[in-house]
Amino acid sequence: MAMSTRHIPVLMKEAIDVLNIKQGNVYVDGTLGGGGFAEEILKRLSRGGFLIGIDRDLSAVKNAQAALEEKFDKKNFKLFHANFAKIDEIVKGEGFSGIDGAVLDLGISSIQLEGGRGFSFGEDVDAVAGLDMRMDPESGLTAGDIINGYPEKTIADIIWKYGDEKFSRGIAKNIIAYRKKKPLETPLELAEVVRKSVYKGYGKFKRFRTDPATKTFMALRIFVNKEYDSLTEFLEKLRTVLNKGGRTAIISFHSGEDRIVKNFLKNNLDFKPVNKKPIVPGEEEIKNNGRSRSAKLRVFYYV
Ligand SMILES: C[S@@+](CC[C@H](N)C(=O)[O-])C[C@H]1O[C@@H](n2cnc3c(N)ncnc32)[C@H](O)[C@@H]1O
Repeated sequence: MAMSTRHIPVLMKEAIDVLNIKQGNVYVDGTLGGGGFAEEILKRLSRGGFLIGIDRDLSAVKNAQAALEEKFDKKNFKLFHANFAKIDEIVKGEGFSGIDGAVLDLGISSIQLEGGRGFSFGEDVDAVAGLDMRMDPESGLTAGDIINGYPEKTIADIIWKYGDEKFSRGIAKNIIAYRKKKPLETPLELAEVVRKSVYKGYGKFKRFRTDPATKTFMALRIFVNKEYDSLTEFLEKLRTVLNKGGRTAIISFHSGEDRIVKNFLKNNLDFKPVNKKPIVPGEEEIKNNGRSRSAKLRVFYYV
């Protein structure tokens, strides 16, 4: 495990600029991760301003606490180990009647990805990891519970629905065949079963730009962490916490998440997009940070 891993934020300058931060106002960073966004927000606040930081991963909260305390006055921020879907309870619990802006930088951080927690399937990192994939390792089912316990059809549906994987049925069938002999215990074992199923599905002439196991791993991660539910709940709560004119910036990394934000804006006319089209990374950022390739930033305000 690489202890020195740093998370390189994507579209951070764009998101912070468009939030239009005012020195004395109150903001929420719902996805603290490595603390990069939180730091940029705090830099722009004066003594009267306040940042609420949230992450469902306790280790992210602890690391961000240590890093931010070194640079900023503790009076200006408070961090919470929670799901950002609880934004209303946290904001009200701190005695604020409303906030002036919020940011979500969705998905997982490089620190989680390389932390031997089952999110990735590279030989070096996850050879000894379990099939966990929980952002909050203290709650909920693991990917292993699903892969080794759920019926074939449910596994196929999860991989299809959250991964857009067209060989979901073949993958699920091969998972069931494998687990009749022994449980799937590591990401590497799962990745191998998935790869073989996808290779078989395509035949031998297909060239792959990404690892054929990528979509299945993404699907399991989204399902394990109920990522769509959290985002939907967060959006529905916004009306109860955002001050009029307050902005929200959301960076998503795949089409399913972006669709949730897009549809929310279509169906809730008291929120107005700041830009007609989502902001996407430029060529330079994509070259320097491959993870940014699929990123989209949507910003909107409460009318
Ligand atoms: C891409 S990282 C954020 C990186 C961060 N912006 C930075 O500058 O380092 C996403 C983080 O959001 C957290 N996260 C994802 N979904 C969450 C949720 N529903 N509630 C709270 N935290 C969540 C993850 O645990 C992870 O630490």
